[in-house]
Amino acid sequence: MADIHSWLVTGAAGFIGSNFVHYWCTRYPDDRVVVLDALTYAGNRNSLTALEAHENFSFVQGDITDQALVEALLRDHQLDGIVNFAAESHVDRSITGPDAFISTNIVGTHRLLEAARKVWVTEGRAAGHRFHQVSTDEVYGSLGNDDPPFTEEHPYLPNSPYAASKASADHLVRAYQETFGLRTSISNCSNNYGPYQFPEKLIALTICNLVRGKALPIYGTGMNIRDWLFVDDHCRGIDRVLRAGKTGRTYNIGGGTEMTNIGLVQRLCELADQVIGESAELQARYPDAPASKGRTSASLIEYVSDRPGHDWRYAIDISRIDQELGYQPLTDLDRGLELTLNWYLNNDQWWQAVMDGSYQQWIDSQYTAGR
Ligand code: NAD
Ligand code: TYD
Repeated sequence: MADIHSWLVTGAAGFIGSNFVHYWCTRYPDDRVVVLDALTYAGNRNSLTALEAHENFSFVQGDITDQALVEALLRDHQLDGIVNFAAESHVDRSITGPDAFISTNIVGTHRLLEAARKVWVTEGRAAGHRFHQVSTDEVYGSLGNDDPPFTEEHPYLPNSPYAASKASADHLVRAYQETFGLRTSISNCSNNYGPYQFPEKLIALTICNLVRGKALPIYGTGMNIRDWLFVDDHCRGIDRVLRAGKTGRTYNIGGGTEMTNIGLVQRLCELADQVIGESAELQARYPDAPASKGRTSASLIEYVSDRPGHDWRYAIDISRIDQELGYQPLTDLDRGLELTLNWYLNNDQWWQAVMDGSYQQWIDSQYTAGR
């Protein structure tokens, strides 16, 4: 890799981006990191509090569709790397309101690419630049139970507006490499979990609901399968791609952990019962958790109507990143769930603050109107 030490990291007030900048600033403290984030419902400055005192870190509130702003940041801070996490990221929201997904995920990525092309290629300010796009396995569509896991050669067959918008962005990134010589890379990862995840995604929602004694919604039969990736392992995978990955190349990053949704939720319930059941302090803090009342968290599971177009199974083949870049996930599911549960149990101020009235209304409406 060219020697890049100054980065624009977009969407880093969100889940994966905030974990990534924590990882990066700890591992490479001399690198300059400028975060650009619009602070949508999913963005949270509190996820970056620990970095505010870091002398090479700065935060800019702004939109990736604002090309002039992005160009100014690249020039003024002499940035030569972009890692694009900014996105609308929740499939359910893409079904009820796809417009924002088109705007941020497609138009926003395009504006970022244009800004990078202008400053780095046309003005020739950064010969060894890198534009890295963080994408998803959902662009590949859905697998049957006996299909081999997704490789990077799998055709793009997106099924949700979210997946289609991410697929479009990936195609634009590829086109900018081929047409304009922008130095790009793409990583397509499986379902992430860990600290700072907005409690609308399955694992974070399950934890935040069970400690409040609220229902744990399972869509359809609960037999859909996802491949779970602990967020730190994802950050290490992106690091490998940025440091050693070839430009113009795509790398899949997975956790090697396939689970049915119901199997996963049951495992999390058992873990929560054990951890809360053993701690008088946690029982006092979470009196509505079933484990505080001698009941099982699994008693909160409720089957609800299925998500439209619900992909059956995702599984990721990580042979390429393993063989070319020496990447393997390090955190198995039991350890990752334990770390995640403990983080949410000890950081209730963080998630209570994001579960405000409007968010709670939105989530509740999912299980009444038409679901
Ligand atoms: P997130 O929803 O938690 O965070 C998204 C962040 O982007 C937020 O901070 C939000 O404020 C910001 N943002 C949204 N629109 C913006 C705009 N127009 N301009 C600037 N900032 C904007 O998402 P996440 O789960 O951290 O996902 C990060 C990336 O990883 C996304 O590109 C997503 O598609 C991809 N991904 C996520 C997962 C997962 O399991 N969470 C899996 C595969 C891929
Ligand atoms: P989610 O976390 O939304 O990620 P994705 O849709 O990107 O895979 O959902 C993970 C799986 O869990 C998916 O199959 C849908 C299912 N699910 C539920 O069963 N109940 C829920 O409340 C949520 C949010 C998801």
